[in-house]
Amino acid sequence: MQEKFDDRPIGVFDSGQGGLTVLSRLVDLMPNEDYVFYGDSAHAPYGVKTPEEVYQLTKQVIDELIKKDHVKAVMIACNTATSVAADRLRREYDLPIIGIEPAVKPAVQENAGTVVAMATPLTLKAPKFNDLAAKYAKKDQVVKVPAPKLVELVEDGQMDTPAVYDYLHGLLDPYAGQTDGVVLGCTHFPFAKKAIKNILGPKTKVYDGAIGAAEEVKRQLAKRGELTDRTEPGEISFKNSKPGAGKLSQKLFQIYRQDCQ
Ligand code: DGL
Repeated sequence: MQEKFDDRPIGVFDSGQGGLTVLSRLVDLMPNEDYVFYGDSAHAPYGVKTPEEVYQLTKQVIDELIKKDHVKAVMIACNTATSVAADRLRREYDLPIIGIEPAVKPAVQENAGTVVAMATPLTLKAPKFNDLAAKYAKKDQVVKVPAPKLVELVEDGQMDTPAVYDYLHGLLDPYAGQTDGVVLGCTHFPFAKKAIKNILGPKTKVYDGAIGAAEEVKRQLAKRGELTDRTEPGEISFKNSKPGAGKLSQKLFQIYRQDCQ
């Protein structure tokens, strides 16, 4: 088969700034691709909306990424949107739509004791999360910890401020020193990884689905012959539905790559 190449950008979408944690893994894995990051901060948080609202918002962004940015694939870098909308959207579009899911499987397979799963309320209620836990975890091994306010704090650019610590202490103190692993089942949460580890204890292993999701994007594009053949680093554009938030994305992306990953 003759190889073909494709220089169109990859669209990376989240309800807000969280998807930057996935974008970072994509750039590590495929540095020569172009990316358009779209944060829907005007409508964040998604994790307290209905599944239908999340589906409609996600669809609007995918339409824009296709029409205006001519993307060749969309990474839904949002566990919440993946949980409630990805299957339906895949049936409606021809281009690859890749999602991210909470890394429950490795966390429960690599740890015998309790695993804390932090995510949005909607992700923790959705069948995707509960099916994963039922399939791989022992009974009562996974403790669900919804953390919707952490999304708002990260949207505000906070990751290790007193407000972040206050909120996380309230949620996580009961599990400090008692848990082997923590699943960060929302793409905003890796921004607060240091604070989460400081509270749960240095031995707690942290799991998120970003590397697996980035690898899946690469696999799907390779299969279609649509990876770029450029040898220079690609470009990243940051778009956001909330005025000014695209600039914040750019800044948070640098901070994440330098200090948090
Ligand atoms: N970052 C998103 C996730 O991975 C959603 C956060 C939100 O908007 O509630 O679930």
